[in-house]
Amino acid sequence: TSVKKIVVLKGDYIGPEIMTAGLAVLDAATKDTTFAYELIDAPFGGDGIDRAGDPLPQSTIDVSKQADAVLLSAIGGPKWDNAPRRPEQGLLEIRSKLNLFANIRPTKVTAAQIDRSPLKPEYVENTDFVIVRELTSGAYFGKPRKLEAHQAIDTMYYSEEEVTRIMHQGFKMAQKRNKHVTIVDKSNVLATSKFWRKIANEVGKSYQDVTIDYYYVDAMTMAIMAKPTTFDVVIIPNLFGDILSDEAAQITGSIGQIPSMSVGESGPNLYEPIHGSAPDIAGQGIANPISMVNTVAMMLTESFDEKRIADKITAAVDYIIENHCVTPDMGGTMTTDEVTQKMVDYIKNYESADIK
Ligand code: NAD
Ligand code: IPM
Ligand code: MN
Repeated sequence: TSVKKIVVLKGDYIGPEIMTAGLAVLDAATKDTTFAYELIDAPFGGDGIDRAGDPLPQSTIDVSKQADAVLLSAIGGPKWDNAPRRPEQGLLEIRSKLNLFANIRPTKVTAAQIDRSPLKPEYVENTDFVIVRELTSGAYFGKPRKLEAHQAIDTMYYSEEEVTRIMHQGFKMAQKRNKHVTIVDKSNVLATSKFWRKIANEVGKSYQDVTIDYYYVDAMTMAIMAKPTTFDVVIIPNLFGDILSDEAAQITGSIGQIPSMSVGESGPNLYEPIHGSAPDIAGQGIANPISMVNTVAMMLTESFDEKRIADKITAAVDYIIENHCVTPDMGGTMTTDEVTQKMVDYIKNYESADIK
């Protein structure tokens, strides 16, 4: 087997703190396995501005295109908020340049997490859905976009091809899951949303085994609170998906646990937690590493077909949550490093238990 190339974009503020944790767990979990990898550090985001003068240097695009996977923590923050090209611009561009049109954001409440959810246990038990967020079009990329002294313009745009491919992505995922798709839009008002719903309907006809329901996005923000267990695959435009996925994260108790994967038609996937660089807690050593660790597990499963290694990591995450070895955002008192060490130790013991 070949050595897998993983581009590492270490990120800003808590980015490097959780990346260190994720890589420590990757190292522990792959010890004594046949999975071999090489980490390639590349400048990106605020770190890209500092080290290479741009949030997305051409060299980072080039090396990412040749990689087997790209692993990102989180970028941005006050240090670069007034930069001519902000870190966030680099993030949008890397998604676009790698043609990563679908962003998969899971919301799964495990037994260990039930008590940490802000919702009552009977509401959250068995919650397991994925948000399939369109990532390279919609309000984020439509032209014209202008910010002038007395007016500003954003454009929400979708082409037939863009909507069709995200629908197929979602319906195919549903076939491998619980065979239910929820289409989210604002088709009572927006043209792009009427278009979205029409195409969803057409594409849906070729997936006879998948049931469909439709929600306006405002009602959907309530529904994921009121009955989160009824959803399976949620297909949603870019901007709405950004918003709804943060809300969905909170169902699990903390956004500091949620991974994501961005995929295109070909080329490497990009893996990143859904949260940001959390400048409010950076430098204190208390960032929750679980999101990054889950992101590493997702990469192992989806890009490298290493489910067994990923399962060890997931078991380690369950273990620390069950034993309350968690950071303050989850009601714990442990530091990032302590939580990470617990996971690494668990994985080492898991290995020896495995051999027995
Ligand atoms: P945020 O997601 O960084 O933080 C929101 C809240 O969640 C904060 O209270 C933060 O402390 C908490 N939080 C997030 N991750 C956590 C973790 N791992 N452990 C513990 N607590 C965690 O959102 P924000 O504050 O609105 O944005 C901060 C910066 O991040 C901005 O520059 C924004 O543009 C950027 N951002 C980047 C990404 C990304 O890189 N994909 C995503 C979202 C926001
Ligand atoms: C996310 C973030 C990004 C987005 C920002 C930082 C550009 O909020 O990944 O969810 O809006 O897509
Ligand atoms: Mn977001």
